[in-house]
Amino acid sequence: MYSRPRRNRATAAIRSMVQETRLDVANLIYPLFMEDGKNIKTAIPSLPDIYRYSLDTLLKEIEESVELGIESFVLFPAVDDSLKDKIASYSYRSDNFYLKAATEIKKRFPHIMLMSDVAMDPYSSDGHDGFVDENGKILNDVTLPILGKMSVAQAEAGFDILGPSDMMDGRVGFMRAQLDEAGFIDVGIMSYTAKYASAYYGPFRDALGSAPKSGDKKTYQMNPANKMEALRQAAMDAAEGADFLMVKPALCYLDIIHMLKENFDLPITAYNVSGEYAMLKAACQNGWLNYEQAMPEMLLSMKRAGADGILTYFAKDFARLRKEGIV
Ligand code: PBG
Repeated sequence: MYSRPRRNRATAAIRSMVQETRLDVANLIYPLFMEDGKNIKTAIPSLPDIYRYSLDTLLKEIEESVELGIESFVLFPAVDDSLKDKIASYSYRSDNFYLKAATEIKKRFPHIMLMSDVAMDPYSSDGHDGFVDENGKILNDVTLPILGKMSVAQAEAGFDILGPSDMMDGRVGFMRAQLDEAGFIDVGIMSYTAKYASAYYGPFRDALGSAPKSGDKKTYQMNPANKMEALRQAAMDAAEGADFLMVKPALCYLDIIHMLKENFDLPITAYNVSGEYAMLKAACQNGWLNYEQAMPEMLLSMKRAGADGILTYFAKDFARLRKEGIV
């Protein structure tokens, strides 16, 4: 036997020397939920250890995360039902607490990357990512100008990167044109390129109260059975000026992450979504899996598949365990 692969696994030093993929805290983007008000830190039952913050408590959470080495964040708003309407008008109102929070966060932490979510659902009385007509149809081209206004308002507020998560056709190009026209040529777009109509978004919708009031999202989010379609979406987004291509969810879609990495030269990101977090946390809380081992293994699989960046609710735990030298 000339070949004995076990020789390269014999000691920790050799294993580390030949390790092909490494995960860094710098690869992680930490999602944060917020609502209007003061001194709020509300637990989200389906997302253990994740909270909904008001701006004051959110700034503390960001400060702690920054001390652990996290530099990238994505912010999501939970909007009171009384502010929701058919056209998501609160999303671009100048007194919007989410926009004001972004300005304050960037003032306090100018060096961090702060990303937004561009979609109608948190602000829509229908709970959909697009405009819903009287027959329940989601109208693509009526939605685009709303996304355009939302994008310019977010850029004005100081977000560094905008994250269109709605899957309307043509939104990246539309947003790029609106941003450029308003002078925001340096504001980036991380497109939710291949966003699937997944069952794994449940806890996120609990956190924001943003579940659709009727129907589902299958006429705009992708069919989980499809792979080639992700290539077409990616080609469109790249041509329309996206700066990053995202695959979402991540764990059930590692083949899609890999395929986009092989076929495009833009950075690829993966969204390790709320349901993926919830199921791992639940198993660990029950003592069925070891958190310190299972969690980094899950994140590493996404990096190995081809993700440059990972949006993950595990970010703070990973950063803490890394600082303690445990992972
Ligand atoms: C909203 C949006 C969703 C997520 C991110 N942005 C939910 C949805 O499309 O219904 C899900 C994130 C997660 O589950 O962690 N457009």
